[in-house]
Amino acid sequence: MLISSAHIQEGIRKLGAELTEIYAGRRIVVIPLLRGGFMFAADLIRNMDVDLQIEFLGAASYGEQTRSSGEVRLTLDTTLPLSGRDVLLVEDIVDTGLTLAYIQKLIKSRNPASLRTVVLLDKKARRQVDVEVYGCVFSIPDRFVFGYGLDSPGGYGRNLPDIVTLKD
Ligand code: IMP
Ligand code: MG
Repeated sequence: MLISSAHIQEGIRKLGAELTEIYAGRRIVVIPLLRGGFMFAADLIRNMDVDLQIEFLGAASYGEQTRSSGEVRLTLDTTLPLSGRDVLLVEDIVDTGLTLAYIQKLIKSRNPASLRTVVLLDKKARRQVDVEVYGCVFSIPDRFVFGYGLDSPGGYGRNLPDIVTLKD
């Protein structure tokens, strides 16, 4: 086990409180990035005392089982207009940064009033492109992880309450 459920929840409570202050008095759109970001987003928004709508974006990247290729595909698009809106993008993990770079560019092309990105996990050592990340709950080493929304190479394990890593 790399990060326990209790530790995850504690980190999310702090980030939720911070976002509550930042967005005080605003009506925002929260976009969980599917599939991995769904569980983090579900817990995060319950720790945010902010008027918010939910939209979803889906992204997948072709690649080997534990490495993304950087070739990103949109698998699900939003339905509300994002123009003039304060958008909070919620992602499970930033690795090379290619997925977030693609998705942030897409959202910015729709002229939101603001865009912030929060991620649960950051594998800094693997970054290939600079991406703006407003908040990261945990920095982790370059290990393949799953659980708490993130899947294992076979596509299973998203329902584990803790974040775990494969044995060497
Ligand atoms: P990036 O485009 O390389 O930053 O990769 C981001 C995407 O790759 C994330 O949205 C995850 O879906 C996936 N990913 C990266 N590292 C891991 C991992 O350790 N476990 C599970 N998924 C991962
Ligand atoms: Mg993902």
